[in-house]
Amino acid sequence: MRKINLTIGNHKNIFTILAIAFMSAVLFVHCSEQTEKATELTELQEKALSFTQPMPEHAFEEGMNQSEDIIELGRMLYYEPRISKSGIISCNSCHSLTTFGVDQIPVSIGHGWQKGPVNAPTVLNAAFHRTQFWNGRAKDVEEQAGMPILDKLEMAATEEHVLTVLASMPEYVERFRAAFPDQENPLVYENVGNAIGAFERILLTYSPFDDFLRGNANALTEEQKKGLETFIEVGCQTCHRGQVMGGEIFTFFQTPRERETGEFNKGRFDFTQRESDKHFFKVPSLLNVEMTYPYLHDGSVWRLSETVNIVAKDMLSRELTPGQNHLIVEFLKSLTGELTDKAMELPVLPSSTPETPKPRFDI
Ligand code: HEC
Ligand code: HEC
Repeated sequence: MRKINLTIGNHKNIFTILAIAFMSAVLFVHCSEQTEKATELTELQEKALSFTQPMPEHAFEEGMNQSEDIIELGRMLYYEPRISKSGIISCNSCHSLTTFGVDQIPVSIGHGWQKGPVNAPTVLNAAFHRTQFWNGRAKDVEEQAGMPILDKLEMAATEEHVLTVLASMPEYVERFRAAFPDQENPLVYENVGNAIGAFERILLTYSPFDDFLRGNANALTEEQKKGLETFIEVGCQTCHRGQVMGGEIFTFFQTPRERETGEFNKGRFDFTQRESDKHFFKVPSLLNVEMTYPYLHDGSVWRLSETVNIVAKDMLSRELTPGQNHLIVEFLKSLTGELTDKAMELPVLPSSTPETPKPRFDI
């Protein structure tokens, strides 16, 4: 009040200001009542929050390097085809951010037109999986990112090739220094994975379902809400749970195509060599599943509704009615989200120098 007196010093004005202050106070109380109302959750929202939660801003854990420098370097390396042997394959070739982080074909095509054994899952939100790959053979996105670059079927490079390529361009040398300021020699293979991993930790998507979990009960359509009820009723969330509705546990599964042809992928057994892990696969995340066709670990099913029926039957011994199937599929569509503008930015890559290795196409 004294401050007002000092600056205005006129009774009429003081009354006006008092009136405004009073009205603002009334408005404030009114508004906070409204926000309280908006955060009062429906029973369905509470149920959903018992097995998943809204998407945070990033997936960095406490104490991780999350500087702009490491994220920008990771972004460049994600789109950098010259680290592959052929000079034409980057992470984005198989995990294009224009198509929800997947290639939308049954199995990926890598170096020299070679085919891989399994369908490429999306990189979007992958940082939240407890392990990486269908069989869980990498512990996090940092470790994972170093593997496809050296895989003979994928990018077919060697560590030496990657480091020679990067060292040949002064901009990369400078950017590694900035991204890893505490390291004497930051241009080492492990940091390629560390930087790409950091970029992947911002590749998170925000969907209508995410809005719903944040408190907006109207973010889902009536059908989608019924679909969510059905999803919970039949028990899908017993496996598709956690931050990204999957990515936590492994379960036994054989695709209809595998059973028909007798050609099986052994899943987690390939990594652990434990008999009990034969045909065990990581439960995939369901976020953006509408857009990440074809489905299952061998990419053998193109339609989401057919996939839902197969999984319901195999995993839960449930025959869904066409109505239930329709509602669940409608709900799954509410998990289709958007990346932030920052995640979607395209990098400009430095030009090659005479020292940059030339593309090689031999297998
Ligand atoms: C030739 C195609 C291809 C290229 C290139 C490629 N990937 Fe993949 N990616 C795949 C396939 C196929 C899988 C599944 C392999 C498996 O599970 O055994 C996969 C799995 C992953 C996963 C695990 C996701 C999950 O749900 O478990 C991540 C993360 C990933 N890739 C990121 C990357 C990054 C980063 C790069 C670049 C360094 C890259 N990929 C390059 C095809 C590719
Ligand atoms: C017992 C655990 C379990 C239950 C219960 C379960 N799922 Fe899954 N789901 C999985 C596993 C594991 C896979 C991967 C199968 C594979 O290896 O191809 C999967 C795959 C899927 C896929 C394909 C995803 C992709 O990217 O290929 C969809 C869609 C799906 N489940 C939806 C559902 C729905 C809807 C329900 C409820 C009707 C459900 N799941 C119940 C474990 C489960």
